Amino acid sequence: MKKDLFALKGTICYSKNQKELIFAENSYAVCENGLCAGVFSQLPEEYKDIPVKDMGDRLIIPGFTDLHLHAPQYAYRGTGMDLELLDWLNTITFPQEAKYADLSYAKKAYSIFVDDLKHSFTTRACIFATLHRPATELLMDMLEESGLATMVGKVNMDRNGAPELQEKSAQASAQDTRQWLEEIKGRYDHTYPILTPRFTPSCTDELMTELGKIQREYHLPVQSHLSENFGEIAWVKELCPTSRFYGDAYDMFGLFGTKPAFNTNEADFASASGLNTTDNTAAHISSDGASVCPTIMAHCVHSTDEEIQMIKDQGVYIAHCPESNTDIASGIAPVRLYLDMGLHVGLGTDVAGGFSLSMFRAMADAIQVSKLRWRLMDQTQAPVTLEEAFYMATIGGGSFFGKVGSFEKGYEFDAMILDDSNIRHPQEISTRDRLERLVYLSDDRNLVGKYVQGRKVI
Ligand code: GUN
Ligand code: FE
Repeated sequence: MKKDLFALKGTICYSKNQKELIFAENSYAVCENGLCAGVFSQLPEEYKDIPVKDMGDRLIIPGFTDLHLHAPQYAYRGTGMDLELLDWLNTITFPQEAKYADLSYAKKAYSIFVDDLKHSFTTRACIFATLHRPATELLMDMLEESGLATMVGKVNMDRNGAPELQEKSAQASAQDTRQWLEEIKGRYDHTYPILTPRFTPSCTDELMTELGKIQREYHLPVQSHLSENFGEIAWVKELCPTSRFYGDAYDMFGLFGTKPAFNTNEADFASASGLNTTDNTAAHISSDGASVCPTIMAHCVHSTDEEIQMIKDQGVYIAHCPESNTDIASGIAPVRLYLDMGLHVGLGTDVAGGFSLSMFRAMADAIQVSKLRWRLMDQTQAPVTLEEAFYMATIGGGSFFGKVGSFEKGYEFDAMILDDSNIRHPQEISTRDRLERLVYLSDDRNLVGKYVQGRKVI
């Protein structure tokens, strides 16, 4: 039975590839059963009678994927940014996250976060919750209700936390994670669990070993942090003396990729969300025999050549978070290098290292910091272009969810309708210029419609 069949008409814009954008004025993007059936200048015969939502000359673009952010940190965004990572975690982040032991506080804080995320330029997101299972489930319930498609992780941390924010032991952390996965089994349609060891300094070897087992048992994707800050990297070397480099400290436990992309066909989603645990392990073994662990690593600001090579070889996704890297003075990731090497790179706001939920802002930040890097650090690495920033915000991060981030036929229908009439101009401007202005000048007034998997969200 047809779930939905309609077209959006307007000025359609999406990536052809990393270097080129497609602009289709007065065109139709057709949605059929949650998938895009293509973009047409005239409706083909088979679609001639479908409902058309005419958006005039408003822009219609694919939704953006925020590949890395922390839901509990939204409560204090825009404050406390005069510290570097490790001091920032200890003095600001950990005491704030401890508050989510109290479900009534969690409800208040997460309602604000989810409502704002729903009305932001984000259609998909990979989200850290806190170590608290009940609050994580509450967050997942709210995100499901919002209509967005998200991956959410109950955070694991059994060392170097705060007295009020640390799990009692590796076994207790693993047990709580299993309980979480069992409790949410079958509960959601578009909210998926993702295994979330906070970062190496927060997780003992024993916990990492347990998480590796859970990953293989439930076939879960994984998200964590990597090579963000110099103090952090030196600490990992001390904590994991046998690791060759930081990424190796995840790989030692089977928590570092080995597959180029998360293939989200129905079966994979079922197993990723814990709906089907009786399945074929073989489907999760890559051709070289390594088990498959789709992985996102946030930051990769100071990755070594060896680490970058392993990221490439094992298909690890990089969440580039330029605003956060600026705010807590981590540095500037070599994104030109990553793009030219063909790595999977998406953009993350990393709230509350980053202060803004806006993925347009993340695009502007990625472009701006790349110019500083080129000017001040390495003139062989050209700045990021508008086309590349748009690609990272759409297909770059979206592909972690499957065929997401484009209007090509067969992609999941995630769309945003943008009214830019308040960004006034006294002269004719091109569609590309309209898009570029939205990158720098947009705010929530400009978002007038949003679809995720064909569902109307706003
Ligand atoms: N590394 C470990 N935890 C965090 C966090 O909450 N934010 C950032 N930016 N880096 C981290
Ligand atoms: Fe982060």
